[in-house]
Amino acid sequence: KIIPVVMAGGSGSRLWPLSRLTYPKQFLTLEGEQTMLQQTISRLSKLEVESPVVICNEEHRFIVAEQLRQINALKEIILEPVGRNTAPAVALAAIQCLKDLADNEDVLLLILAADHIIKDNAAFINAIKTSTSYAIDGNLVTFGIEPSTPETGFGYIQAGVDISSGGVSGAFKVNAFVEKPEQAVAESFLSDGGYYWNSGMFMFGARKYLSELHKFCPDIYDSCSKAIQSPDKDLCFIRIDHDIFSHCPDLSIDYAVMEHTANAVVVPMSAGWSDVGSWSSLWDISDKDERGNVLIGDVIIHNSSSNYVHAQSGLVTMLGVDDLIVVQTKDAILVTKHDAVQDVKKIVEELKTAG
Ligand code: GDD
Ligand code: MG
Repeated sequence: KIIPVVMAGGSGSRLWPLSRLTYPKQFLTLEGEQTMLQQTISRLSKLEVESPVVICNEEHRFIVAEQLRQINALKEIILEPVGRNTAPAVALAAIQCLKDLADNEDVLLLILAADHIIKDNAAFINAIKTSTSYAIDGNLVTFGIEPSTPETGFGYIQAGVDISSGGVSGAFKVNAFVEKPEQAVAESFLSDGGYYWNSGMFMFGARKYLSELHKFCPDIYDSCSKAIQSPDKDLCFIRIDHDIFSHCPDLSIDYAVMEHTANAVVVPMSAGWSDVGSWSSLWDISDKDERGNVLIGDVIIHNSSSNYVHAQSGLVTMLGVDDLIVVQTKDAILVTKHDAVQDVKKIVEELKTAG
């Protein structure tokens, strides 16, 4: 049995001003017909899996419930009273999924981020199918992306011994997992070769994850087990203990478990994956006009190249400008350049402190 667990509690601050704290990017339609959350689940239609468990912030419960209802996938939504990052989120989901099982039974979890774009669905499905046997054998499987730039916003996986047994995608033991390295380190990984980016999706047994978490981060394990011991169930919503969970350390699954476990396996995945982390990466993967512009909404543009223009509320016009990002919404406008897009989150921080 495989249960998809969708992590949908991030804030997506680098896609401000379209992505807001009250309406983060995973709930937006950035590409294609469905929202990113909906695409994450629809992508699984060709796989034999259970209904997905979604875990998100309490504040977004109605957005999530409505988006799941629209695609007929509403089952269980775990609500976090506060965000404590992905290691706790996955722990809560794992404990919840094991609730009705006997002590000797386990279940495989397919951990998915709610904000990725994947162009080649067949390749994605193949990689997941390949991963299941390794997960059943007690490994924590990651899906590796061939790196193209020394990006510092990703985890890096050094592939070790080839353990593939004829699967279409291949599989390697993980020698080392390095989350978000410094620029110089990322550059050396690229020039050394043999490294993959961590896609941020995982496949493992729920019990295996919990025992690794218990080994490396007992505080997180304890907080999560206590916080979801007697959850409050209200329709599809599962609420956990606010006080206990607010004392849980804030740590991602990558730092908490993947950097330390001796049982990681990487299955390479070449599926047109992109994590749409920034305006520039969204420009990268979008269809462009003959001068490399991506134009969304009411835009008039002349003699301009390589721009990303998103007009949500009224007309935007551009004359003789190149390499700009312009995002216009009802109450805020962002103008920036491709090489500055990682810093958009600094503006969001400034807005937060300004209240
Ligand atoms: N429920 C819940 N609670 N979900 C969360 C939380 C939380 O506190 N924090 C983040 N998420 C969700 C986000 O919405 C997203 O879908 C996913 O978990 C990953 O979180 P990000 O914050 O986007 O992580 P990242 O992009 O910095 O890094 C991860 O993904 C990279 C690939 O995109 C890591 O796994 C990297 O190693 C990886 O390369
Ligand atoms: Mg991300």
